[in-house]
Amino acid sequence: MIAIGIDLGTTFSVVARFDGTEAPRVIAAPDGRAITPSVVYFDNQHIVVGADAVRLGLDEPDRVVRGIKRQMGTRFALAFDGNEYTPETVSALILKALVDNAAATLGCAPGDFAAVVTVPAYFGVTEREATAQAVRLAGLELLDLVAEPVAAAACYGATRAAAGAVLVFDLGGGTFDTTVLRMSAGGPEVVVTDGDSHLGGLDWNDRLCDILLRKFEGSVDPEIAATADDDTAFLEHVGAAADKAKIALTARDSVPVTLEYDGGRSVVHLTRKEFEEASAHLVSNCVTVADRALAAARARGADRLERILLVGGATRMPTIRAALEGHFGVEVTMFEPDLAVAKGAAMHAHSLVSKTRPSLPGGATGRRMLAAPVRTVLPRALGILIHDSRDRSGDSRIVNHVVEANTALPVKGARARFATILDGQDKIRVEVYEQAGAIASPDLRHNRRVLDGELVDVPHLPAGSPIDIEFDIGADGRISCTATEPKSGRLLLLESYMEGVIDAEDSERQQTLLAGLRIHL
Ligand SMILES: Nc1ncnc2c1ncn2[C@@H]1O[C@H](COP(=O)(O)OP(=O)(O)OP(=O)(O)O)[C@@H](O)[C@H]1O
Ligand SMILES: [Mg+2]
Repeated sequence: MIAIGIDLGTTFSVVARFDGTEAPRVIAAPDGRAITPSVVYFDNQHIVVGADAVRLGLDEPDRVVRGIKRQMGTRFALAFDGNEYTPETVSALILKALVDNAAATLGCAPGDFAAVVTVPAYFGVTEREATAQAVRLAGLELLDLVAEPVAAAACYGATRAAAGAVLVFDLGGGTFDTTVLRMSAGGPEVVVTDGDSHLGGLDWNDRLCDILLRKFEGSVDPEIAATADDDTAFLEHVGAAADKAKIALTARDSVPVTLEYDGGRSVVHLTRKEFEEASAHLVSNCVTVADRALAAARARGADRLERILLVGGATRMPTIRAALEGHFGVEVTMFEPDLAVAKGAAMHAHSLVSKTRPSLPGGATGRRMLAAPVRTVLPRALGILIHDSRDRSGDSRIVNHVVEANTALPVKGARARFATILDGQDKIRVEVYEQAGAIASPDLRHNRRVLDGELVDVPHLPAGSPIDIEFDIGADGRISCTATEPKSGRLLLLESYMEGVIDAEDSERQQTLLAGLRIHL
């Protein structure tokens, strides 16, 4: 079995391998690049992933899917040539292409691999389950799902130790994760995780697209301008130009961008100043989230911030470093922004499959870092749906959180007692909800259901009879919730990771669909 780490990113994915002897190494795509665009092109049974998919998408934008990670855990449906795809299947196509390429590179079979796959720390139960499902659909053995900042920190920590807390600031293409870690002797320990699953480089691109479109429309014939922003092929070109311009503006103060549409051609000039002004609110959103994470970390005893570790391609934008240095006044270090996550995942994968302790670059610290499993926290508060006792109509329902976000994992026996509301109730519906937004709130709209079931055959009880709820959460985030009626001892056990986001029938259908496709990287 060959252990690999896969960073399944919103915009780019990376595969790395660590064999315990040399430093972890990236397995490059056929074009030699270490990072592969997470873009999929669909043409009947023929699927193209990566840089070629990006190229094909310029002419046929309706045949490519990008940013699918943002849809993980939703029922988002896609159809191409009579086939229906889910976010899990599209992610499975990316994984399969990556693994096939890795097998060709290393001269082994795709079935030889077992992988640690990374997810944003802020992913909840549903998104994690959807990712695990994608890995299964790709026919890959899943060793573990690991939070991206934890993987990055493990890679960083293998060569350095820090006395105080480290804030991992991971701004990728589509998601923003901020995690406070303590680099203790036992290994990196997550104290707090926070973030925004819909904030990333793509949002900066959107701001640039707006500027580019406005400038283009102002410089061409009004008739051309009137239809340009409805043309998907043109918008795809503008999007690609915006990404290029953004990257150029990291090193330069201004950049010319050539745009052509329907005979209208215009060279527009963009300055870094314009770009930074248009995206200042995005930077300040990031700082607000980082502040919130650090405040929560202080409340948990991690009060000395030692440094900020930048990961994720979008942290290359100079405003990010400047804003963080200005606001927090600590050292800001950029550490392999594109590769640290995959390399850390590969190191974790290796430590899971190897019986002997890995000998790492970085000596004793490195060994210690990986010998111990990374301790982490629950990313989102978990609770039970109950009737709001303050509401006289009895219709209003709220979520009573039993385990707070950022509670250290594993959680053993977090208990709460609730009460039945009707006389003679012989069954009790138990619905487990997890906080959906960034901040925990009892409002039903700010939570979403992750597990549910019914406690049946309970003896007829008077209203107000107790029902005990107990949560156990494993170090890997696996949740089990037990509801017990204490008098009869009847109990209901609900577990996450048991049933997928897609049901068994769906899963079989998708497996058959995948088996019939030819996938190229
Ligand atoms: N030099 C640069 N300047 C500015 N932005 C950059 C630069 N290089 C890459 N980026 C941006 O970084 C983003 C991709 O980052 P990364 O590869 O870390 O994301 P990802 O891992 O795919 O996403 P996520 O972690 O959100 O799932 C893109 O938006 C890209 O435009
Ligand atoms: Mg990433």
